[in-house]
Amino acid sequence: MENIYLVAGVKGGVGKSMVSMSLVDFLMNEDKNVLLVETDNSNPDVLKCYGGVTTAVALNLDHVDGWMDLITHCDNHRNHVVVINSAARNDHAVQMYGDRLQQALPLLKRKLITFWVINRQRDCIELLRNFLDQIPESKTNIVMNTYFGNQEKFVTYNNSQTKKYIEQLGGKSLVFPEVADRVADDFYIKRMTIEKAAEDFPIGNRIELLRWRGEVKKMFEEVIE
Ligand SMILES: Nc1ncnc2c1ncn2[C@@H]1O[C@H](COP(=O)(O)OP(=O)(O)OP(=O)(O)O)[C@@H](O)[C@H]1O
Ligand SMILES: [Mg+2]
Repeated sequence: MENIYLVAGVKGGVGKSMVSMSLVDFLMNEDKNVLLVETDNSNPDVLKCYGGVTTAVALNLDHVDGWMDLITHCDNHRNHVVVINSAARNDHAVQMYGDRLQQALPLLKRKLITFWVINRQRDCIELLRNFLDQIPESKTNIVMNTYFGNQEKFVTYNNSQTKKYIEQLGGKSLVFPEVADRVADDFYIKRMTIEKAAEDFPIGNRIELLRWRGEVKKMFEEVIE
């Protein structure tokens, strides 16, 4: 059965939506059927970009009904890889209801793989520890978003016990590449898919977009067969 990918990180603005969009783009290019689950109700940016090109659903995970629907959608789309884009500050909801998803995994016969997106600040790691306690069944990878500085600048994470723990559990510490602001702004503001942007952009922007997309592909290939 196909995996469930959860793109999380709790903090606002760390790059969760960017990672979700690039994951959907990567999986679609691998000819996967993708079910996009948008859980950011206040700013459903991934749904706006990808809702037209893949199966997609918006759910409210602040309420237990949203978690029940999530599990049912996973069951109803058995040949779909599931990508869940998280809203900021959903830690309380995960703490309240996350055990439902965890309990459903063996019944769904699916694995839960988390991409935990971080910037350079310490609280990203503290929130991660809570998540690991709440959903220990998840195989969790860290995504250092180099929009906030190169990999060496992630000192708190690089020196943390949490990094050792993640890697002991078989998770990876991944490096998410930065793309030029102009290119990121373009597909965000125009609500385009990465695929469409790669077709429509002027050549200078397109070259930058394709470079970034190639780097992103290498990153995901480290963890997705
Ligand atoms: N790797 C990157 N390269 C270029 N720009 C980036 C990158 N990561 C993030 N950004 C910029 O930071 C902004 C915020 O990123 P994004 O919307 O993905 O964060 P988020 O975690 O989803 O935020 P929210 O919590 O509000 O949903 C983006 O609009 C983009 O301009
Ligand atoms: Mg977002």
